[in-house]
Amino acid sequence: MEKRWRCTVCGYIHTGENPPEICPICGADASFFELVSQEDEAKPSSEVKSNAKPVVDQPDGEAAIRQALYRISYGLYIISAQAEGRDNGQCANTCFQITSEPARLAIGINKLNFTHELIQKSGKFGVSVLSQTGHDYARKFGYRTGRDVNKFEGVAVHRGKSGVLLLNDVLVTMEATVISQLDSGTHTLFLADVIGGEILQEGEPMTYAYFRAKK
Ligand SMILES: Cc1cc2nc3c(=O)[nH]c(=O)nc-3n(C[C@H](O)[C@H](O)[C@H](O)COP(=O)(O)O)c2cc1C
Repeated sequence: MEKRWRCTVCGYIHTGENPPEICPICGADASFFELVSQEDEAKPSSEVKSNAKPVVDQPDGEAAIRQALYRISYGLYIISAQAEGRDNGQCANTCFQITSEPARLAIGINKLNFTHELIQKSGKFGVSVLSQTGHDYARKFGYRTGRDVNKFEGVAVHRGKSGVLLLNDVLVTMEATVISQLDSGTHTLFLADVIGGEILQEGEPMTYAYFRAKK
């Protein structure tokens, strides 16, 4: 008998060997689907467990940690940097305010990324905050390295006062200078003072969840 999977966010039922990658109704990803047991099938729908009740098939250990981390909400940003005459940018979700007084933020960047190299060399970076129409930018800057291609080609940009390139078609931009670095294994956490900001558009910021749901 074919398996039935329930989306714990909206209740959509999917039939198949595995849950769908993305829920066609609400956009939740596969980790939000739970297997519907035969007991559940026999019950009236009012008795079937819903999103409001605890998940019965509780994943354990590593799986639970991964699923828990997956539910942290993030925005999406293009982090840009410039050093020794080279410009580059990458997509990142790990960008967040630490304090507002002084204006200070942090980013988590993979040590293998070209952007990481440029930030370490220059001690500065730019942040372009994507709007909900920024899928193409996330794709363009998030899936290949600027060591091989110029990711800014065909993208409308301007240069900030610190010298980094900033996207035009975004909600806001910021420029920041690094004040501290924390080695986090595969990534470096750069702590930085915000030295400039500009408001370019009104609109809803892109979230990581929205990007995944609509991609
Ligand atoms: C949605 C999304 C979010 C990402 N978030 C991060 C992040 O927070 N930190 C990071 O180092 N890489 C992140 N990446 C991966 C980099 O954008 C990717 O590795 C990029 O190709 C690096 O480019 P570079 O070598 O030109 O710097 C993300 C990619 C996507 C698509």
